Amino acid sequence: MGEKMDERKELFASLFDEVKHIVDGPAEMDEKLSSICRLFLERVPHYHWVGFYLVEEPAKRELVLGPFAGEPTEHVRIPFGRGICGQAAEKEKTMVVQDVSKETNYLSCSPRVRSEMLVPIFKHGVIVGELDIDSHDLSPFTEEDRKFLEQVCELISGLF
Ligand code: SME
Repeated sequence: MGEKMDERKELFASLFDEVKHIVDGPAEMDEKLSSICRLFLERVPHYHWVGFYLVEEPAKRELVLGPFAGEPTEHVRIPFGRGICGQAAEKEKTMVVQDVSKETNYLSCSPRVRSEMLVPIFKHGVIVGELDIDSHDLSPFTEEDRKFLEQVCELISGLF
């Protein structure tokens, strides 16, 4: 187990450097977000859908699907408070759901999804979007995932 945890730490450390490289690069914001989604989907074995939801108009209190990698989803617009995405936006807190079958306020994208993590992105203290990770595994997320994804979202905040 210790070895596995070190492996994950190392993977996240190297991915974080790659995210920095993407963020500092010359591409448009959407292209950068899209590259980050593809990178995570390809390289993290327990990430099976990776996408961004964006708060386009704060007054609307609604999340709009942005760049993503993985299967298309019908949940393109999600009001604050609905589903795990909407709850994370409302609470302005990271949400780690290790077993989506136990979550009553949940919007299913695919029956294969068994767990989900949501990390809000803030700009000057205001929520501007979220990073959403779906996994087909049960209880796959550790404290390392949380630390890594929260650091990624802090970095990405500079793009908004
Ligand atoms: N499962 C999410 C909806 C978005 S999809 O996972 C891409 C939710 O409950 O809010």
